[in-house]
Amino acid sequence: MSPSASPTDAEGERLQKVLARAGYGSRRACDDLIAGGRVTVNGRVAELGRRVLAGRDTVAVDGVPVGILPDLVYYLLNKPDGVVTTAQDPEGRPTVLELVPQEPRVFPVGRLDYATEGLLLLTNDGEWANLLAHPSHGVEKEYLAELVADPSPGALRKLRVGVDLGAGLISAPARVSRVGPALIRVVIHEGRYRQVRRMCEEVGFPVRRLARTRIGTLRDTRLAPGAWRPLTTDEVRALGEAAVRPAGANASRAERRAAARRSEELLGPDDPDPDDSPSSSPERRDG
Ligand code: URA
Repeated sequence: MSPSASPTDAEGERLQKVLARAGYGSRRACDDLIAGGRVTVNGRVAELGRRVLAGRDTVAVDGVPVGILPDLVYYLLNKPDGVVTTAQDPEGRPTVLELVPQEPRVFPVGRLDYATEGLLLLTNDGEWANLLAHPSHGVEKEYLAELVADPSPGALRKLRVGVDLGAGLISAPARVSRVGPALIRVVIHEGRYRQVRRMCEEVGFPVRRLARTRIGTLRDTRLAPGAWRPLTTDEVRALGEAAVRPAGANASRAERRAAARRSEELLGPDDPDPDDSPSSSPERRDG
């Protein structure tokens, strides 16, 4: 059978059922999505009654890929300090995988440093993970950083504009605000290795403690350090959407103009648009 052909009645699952499981509402609502031409299977607009086969077909709603395997899991972990974000550690330190259920096997989406705390996603859905982790998608991440001292206005300005991370690499413009003495909030959409620590070090205010407090649309202030919870289907969907349409992609013209004015104030009129800044460096990336 060719990849775009519809499976026979015996094969696969009904598309509306798969979509309902992925959080797109009742089966009836999912039929409406299909009838409205918003659902594609293997890149082609799907018809009502379509069946799909996990592992063979790819499904998307409004261009956002939808996981169709029945046993996909998505966890949000509040990573504590002193845990590595790898499956195994040569030094025998505890790993994030020891903090979540062992079956089915999951893997972290991106990474946090050994000493960094906060929100980390884990899943067995490779497609979704790639979507979120891919640098070109630029899902926003927010960090709270406690610094060794109260940062000067000049240091804050440099963090916002972009910091030389070495090897000719400049961090993209970031949203940075002081939220208390020696405490700043940093919002970035890149994920370079130890990025926030390197940025703060470079402006003369090294990080004493770092926690990730938001990934895209996702926050959770109630999850205790070391605890995890499954994501809701709405959260899985919203994160996928944030990856396909990062903040700003849906912005109105007025919002875009205001953003352009802000970056012009920061960068000067002759500097390139921050969205055009290079992000394809081969250096290792964090989550
Ligand atoms: N930036 C860092 O410096 N460390 C992390 O773990 C994540 C972002």
